Amino acid sequence: MSDRQLATAIAMGKVVLGWFRLLDDPGAMLIRPFQSIDPYPQYERIRARGKVVPSKLGMLLVTDYELCSAVLRDPAYGVAPNRELGQPDLGIDGMVHPLEDSFLFHNPPEHGRLRRIVSPLFTPRAMHDRQARIEAIVDGFLDQLAGREEFDLVGEFAARVPIKIICDLLGVPDAEHRRMTEWGTTLAASIDGMGSIAQVRELRTTLRELNDFLAGMIAQHRAEPNDDVIGHMLADGSLTERELLATSGLLLAAGFETTVNLIGNGVLTLLANPAARQRIVDDPDATDNIVEEILRLDPPIQYTARLSLDGKAKLAGRPVPAGKPVILLTAAANRDPAVFEDPHRFNPDRPNAREHLTFSSGVHYCLGAGLARMEGGIALRALFRRFPDLRVGGTVQRRPSRVVRGPLRLPVRVTSRQPAAIG
Ligand code: HEM
Repeated sequence: MSDRQLATAIAMGKVVLGWFRLLDDPGAMLIRPFQSIDPYPQYERIRARGKVVPSKLGMLLVTDYELCSAVLRDPAYGVAPNRELGQPDLGIDGMVHPLEDSFLFHNPPEHGRLRRIVSPLFTPRAMHDRQARIEAIVDGFLDQLAGREEFDLVGEFAARVPIKIICDLLGVPDAEHRRMTEWGTTLAASIDGMGSIAQVRELRTTLRELNDFLAGMIAQHRAEPNDDVIGHMLADGSLTERELLATSGLLLAAGFETTVNLIGNGVLTLLANPAARQRIVDDPDATDNIVEEILRLDPPIQYTARLSLDGKAKLAGRPVPAGKPVILLTAAANRDPAVFEDPHRFNPDRPNAREHLTFSSGVHYCLGAGLARMEGGIALRALFRRFPDLRVGGTVQRRPSRVVRGPLRLPVRVTSRQPAAIG
């Protein structure tokens, strides 16, 4: 498809979406470009229509917790990359897409073969071994903010911590963090689909640069073996060059913006809940459940999708035709009143907060969930410890995304104090 044809396809898609929106179609309501600061009332409107809500755009929408959870764990459902779903050809043939070509978009048994190679690096034990390093990274970035009275919490803290941690995992030198951040941001923005030909071109450039960069990293690791993630994959010896590129790219793409938004959403939630904010500083034992409740109430990833693989899948007892997309509104499932009492309220003592679906469920359950939980807890605790009077200092700008939720810019004000070590 030429760029002119692609631009026409994107424009036509917007027109069709506009028509369906006028018809108050729940699917169009969902996939239109981000317009609302608060998507949760829209999910409630979808929930009010039933447990499974068909859209004229061809998909089924699910807000019910038990159904979302059942679909995610059911082998009759699977994943498929966008290019297999009739989406316009973006002209990225030959390049490795870190999300679409990785095991995130592979079904069993291929999925398990690829995931098993990196999963030993994400065990609770492996996470425990990284804890001191993560605390040092967080403290280092907070030290750099010493003396400042105003800063952008996202750009100068929340975005820096996860990229540094992923670069550490992959063995990427500090000098490359800025480029890794830009690539991660473009990839995250592409999850909602392409809004313009300029965005397609930016994605192509990112993929080309990221492919070249990771290929260079892999070559370097071949010459000088070590025990970071790339070293570990090479030592396994079973991955092709494309699989090596896709898996290392996946860790960047999956682990970066998600965790940035956990920190950003966490800061906003704790600013609105002063008692919990004080507790996260005073009571280290309370941190884990506070982080779970933040993940439940305001998830960085709002929904995911599955397809009925061979027409044998069922949803609420009814057969789902092969290839039919099912949109699992996990952010809505996290507020299902049948599972979570008083679901719209932030309750740091919620006994079942950890049952949220923010990290998905089933075979694709987030491989980095333990790392994200640890990063989020350490970052939020250290931040509020260092800046007890942190407050919003300007207009909060939200990400223009439906899938990825969190602040893009969060100006804050603080009264700077002497650095205090985390304890
Ligand atoms: C708060 C932060 C995070 C959130 C909300 C999150 C969310 C998710 C979700 C929802 C999925 C599954 C998508 C689906 O089922 O369709 C997923 C998969 C994945 N995540 Fe995360 N993630 C986070 C952090 C991380 C981190 C820090 C890493 C690693 C560096 C990571 C690595 C992965 C990988 C490798 C997969 C693919 C798993 C598979 O397909 O088997 N994630 N994540």
